[in-house]
Amino acid sequence: MAQLFLYSVILFIVSAVVWWLYHWLFIITEGVFLGPRLVVWLYDREAYRYDDIKMYDMEDELILLVEPILGELSGAKEPILLDVAVGTGRVPLFLFKDGRFTKDLNGRVVGVDASQAMLDLADKNLSEVTGRCELLLGSADAINFADRSFDAVSCLESLEFFPNPEKAIEEMIRVLKPGGSLLITRRAGWEARWFLSRHYDQKEFVALLEKKGLTDAVLYQWQNNYDLVIGRKPNVDEVV
Ligand SMILES: C[S@@+](CC[C@H](N)C(=O)[O-])C[C@H]1O[C@@H](n2cnc3c(N)ncnc32)[C@H](O)[C@@H]1O
Repeated sequence: MAQLFLYSVILFIVSAVVWWLYHWLFIITEGVFLGPRLVVWLYDREAYRYDDIKMYDMEDELILLVEPILGELSGAKEPILLDVAVGTGRVPLFLFKDGRFTKDLNGRVVGVDASQAMLDLADKNLSEVTGRCELLLGSADAINFADRSFDAVSCLESLEFFPNPEKAIEEMIRVLKPGGSLLITRRAGWEARWFLSRHYDQKEFVALLEKKGLTDAVLYQWQNNYDLVIGRKPNVDEVV
């Protein structure tokens, strides 16, 4: 009897550990500790239900992304925005739905993502604005554009899933024009610590962005699980 009890306890503990490992590796961190191919494979596999899970809504997105991006681009003429990890097209979709980005600024968006299935859905979501938005398959840590190509770069809810987050930040700053802005999120909330060395606290994250070349980086509490940091690439005459 005592032996049966012991086996039951052991079985319970082993099952709990296996469940937790699965939950950590596949659900919370979305495969990032098992390699970049797995991350992309999971997004390819689950893309079809991404929009239903997120249920983005115009009123929220106006505050969360449209206003901050337009704020950074005010005064720009025919700006080009790069959205890194564009997913199913969230950033261009809400910018175009709002209309000011196109009507007032005559702006365009380039979206890059490593998952073809996510890009296919973005293409479908953006079918009415073809011509204003280019969608490209590619990885955030090797952005296939020349230095100083974009007036602003955004990267929302994605940095923690990239193979090399610091390299990706360097790439985003490289392709920014001097004076351009980077809008990037930092994972927050209780799950953030499970990203281990990929997790930065608020001060570390701002310091990292400034070390990589941004100036005036300011952190805003943004959503439950994310902070948004906005910083600027200095103009040439500001660089010491
Ligand atoms: C949580 S989604 C965020 C998508 C979008 N930014 C949004 O806010 O809805 C993360 C995205 O990162 C993309 N991704 C993962 N690894 C990537 C990489 N190495 N380079 C570019 N995109 C990547 C995924 O395919 C997915 O579309």
